[in-house]
Amino acid sequence: MTEAVQTQSQQEGKFAPRVFSGIQPSGDLHLGNYLGAIKRFVDMQNSGIETIYCMVDLHAITVWQDPAKLRRATRELCAGFIASGLDPQKSILFNQSQAPEHAQLGWIFNCVARMGWMNRMTQFKDKAGKNREKVSVGLFSYPTLMAADILIYHSTHVPVGEDQKQHLELTRDIAAKFNHDYGVNFFPITEPVIEGAATRVMSLRDGSKKMSKSDPSDASRLNMTDDADTIAKKIRKAKTDPDGLPSEIAGLEDRPEARNLVNIYAALADQSVEQVLADVGGQQFGAFKPMLAELAVAKLSPISGEMSRLMQDEGEIDRILADGAMRARAIAAPILAKTYDIVGMVGAGS
Ligand code: TRP
Repeated sequence: MTEAVQTQSQQEGKFAPRVFSGIQPSGDLHLGNYLGAIKRFVDMQNSGIETIYCMVDLHAITVWQDPAKLRRATRELCAGFIASGLDPQKSILFNQSQAPEHAQLGWIFNCVARMGWMNRMTQFKDKAGKNREKVSVGLFSYPTLMAADILIYHSTHVPVGEDQKQHLELTRDIAAKFNHDYGVNFFPITEPVIEGAATRVMSLRDGSKKMSKSDPSDASRLNMTDDADTIAKKIRKAKTDPDGLPSEIAGLEDRPEARNLVNIYAALADQSVEQVLADVGGQQFGAFKPMLAELAVAKLSPISGEMSRLMQDEGEIDRILADGAMRARAIAAPILAKTYDIVGMVGAGS
């Protein structure tokens, strides 16, 4: 949208850099969540930018969630964040429902977004499938709440997976339309920071499918709570092809499983794929897999150990989330109040 781009250049300098991202607490964190999202969140936190990370429980209930499992998954996600290196002092960590400003701004954005825009959302079409009449209204309007999650903090950068790109474009359109309709320059035009192919982790059973918690085969993924033996076994059984490892990237073409295992190695080792291939080129998978298993265990088992330690103290997790929510609301509340004022709601301050 050219309008959005123009607005962006007019806006330069007005909004301080602020990173926001969210993950649904739907249970079963796996390597794809870690390498594709959480590890990048940690890097951004440590680069010194202000970072806000949210467990989006209100998004999770767009499809049915058992209440006890939802509570557990929210705490487990928080434990996973902290065990992976997110520091509740440096980043704001909280669950979405504890900052009611998200849902309040979400309503305003329901009145800004157009049906035509929402009808184009491919994720809704995929998720609803043939079941359109039976899914919740929330599943349809979900992207306006996501826009609110981001814009209630005037966030400038949002790290997300490729599958969320369209929702980020919608967020930009909503900000631009709000600014245009009310004649203000109030919401920033947020930049998506899309994950690269190198951090996109694919299924261990099928290199053309994303690693996913909904894959019926547990052998298709490395869960963040898997123990060392399970990790080693799953890697040993991971699908490969009969050839050995190439010494250059071109040799991974049309070999999705080989590419995936090399990508995982590179991401876990914090090396480039070129570097890894320079070292392991010429090896057979029989030699490479044990190396990968050793590396995966070395990186993941301290995280899963720390997660289970943290999960033993729910009180502490709940205190961290409550403190994060308080700090989040201190930013969100004045932005919501100003939004209400711009829109013409009578209340304190108008
Ligand atoms: N929609 C995202 C997902 O399913 C989660 C999400 C909700 C999010 N609100 C967000 C991500 C805001 C980034 C920013 O993965």
